[in-house]
Amino acid sequence: MKQIAIILLGVGGVGRALLRQIVRGRDIFAHRNQCQFNLVALTDSQGWVWQPTGFTDGQLGEMIAHKEAGGHFPGLRPPIQEMLQMAQDAGLRDLILVDVTAEAGLEPALNRALELGYTAVLANKKPFAGPWQTAQSYLHNPRVRHESTVGGGQPVIATLRYLRDTGDPVHHISGQMSGTLGFLCQQIESGRPFADALAEAKSKGYTEPDPREDLGGRDVLRKLLILGRLAGWPLEEADFTVESLYPAEMAALSVPEFMAAAATLNATFAQRMQAAAATGHTLRFVGEVTPQGGFVGLKPVPQNSPQANLKYISFQTDHYQSPPLMIAGQGAGVAMTAAGVLGDMIGLAREVYGSVETRD
Ligand SMILES: NC(=O)c1ccc[n+]([C@@H]2O[C@H](COP(=O)([O-])OP(=O)(O)OC[C@H]3O[C@@H](n4cnc5c(N)ncnc54)[C@H](OP(=O)(O)O)[C@@H]3O)[C@@H](O)[C@H]2O)c1
Repeated sequence: MKQIAIILLGVGGVGRALLRQIVRGRDIFAHRNQCQFNLVALTDSQGWVWQPTGFTDGQLGEMIAHKEAGGHFPGLRPPIQEMLQMAQDAGLRDLILVDVTAEAGLEPALNRALELGYTAVLANKKPFAGPWQTAQSYLHNPRVRHESTVGGGQPVIATLRYLRDTGDPVHHISGQMSGTLGFLCQQIESGRPFADALAEAKSKGYTEPDPREDLGGRDVLRKLLILGRLAGWPLEEADFTVESLYPAEMAALSVPEFMAAAATLNATFAQRMQAAAATGHTLRFVGEVTPQGGFVGLKPVPQNSPQANLKYISFQTDHYQSPPLMIAGQGAGVAMTAAGVLGDMIGLAREVYGSVETRD
């Protein structure tokens, strides 16, 4: 049975869901692919655990529970490059570095993993949304997979690659790509004050730890940069107009201060929503990108339309002019995002590490 070592960066919502799916699907995956994922290292913001022979499913279960209860890993976390070297020294040849953090600056670790002949799967968008010069080497590397960075596990990136591979040029990409902002807009539409809806979204873990990451449009901008670049357009952040849902003077507040001040925005959102309703529309936070650049912000869409009710991404191409090709569904959660990561890991197992699908 082929063993593929896994170094898992981040054991938050997505990381824990991924560990559960690996453990739960272990027998089926081994049976179908003659291959096993062997978790050798897990890291969080403060520490790590390392066992070159791999943790047992029982140990993984205990770690999931420990992290769920707000615990941290005990070991002093070395730089990721050092972890990779330890794996190399331990004779681990087939290894996937899995990044399900939201950290910036992990590019040197990613580069080192690739230099050592390893592969990587990321739900973390940041390495793909930085300057084009750096991002392009990951976007077009078959040893780096990142389906979950856009669409939370829906096959968005696979579809875009298919369109390009089959020679159907993409002209325009748009969508409602933020479950968090979709939730907020729907709540405001139903008459709820913005600050109340935001507090609920934060308490339920829908937002990033600092909700301004969502409200400022940066998360959607990153997704559009990834899609636009994969469509063949070497865009930079400066090519986008981004509407932030909070004013610049609120940027310097701490997170608790910002949450307390959010009520000052209630009237503005209520008025904008009422103005849209007067013409049979509602507001949704959408993103659009073309070869020339893009837009991220609030836009009126017809009330009760699919665009108002679903998270979706649409591709307008030569073959799909009107209507465009759409991928739509309910807002993604951690389980779907983790499934996208697992799907990428299985793709690498088959296509890079030579595991074979042998049975039903
Ligand atoms: N949640 C979703 O539905 C969704 C959908 C699509 C994409 N994503 C992306 O998936 C990623 C993870 O999301 P999440 O919801 O799981 O976030 P999360 O719950 O905040 O978890 C992040 C994890 O990363 C760990 N971490 C932070 N800094 C680290 C570092 N320097 N080294 C190693 N680990 C570090 C955190 O450690 P602690 O446990 O110590 O805090 C935590 O375990 C993000 O990039 C997010 O944008 C999420």
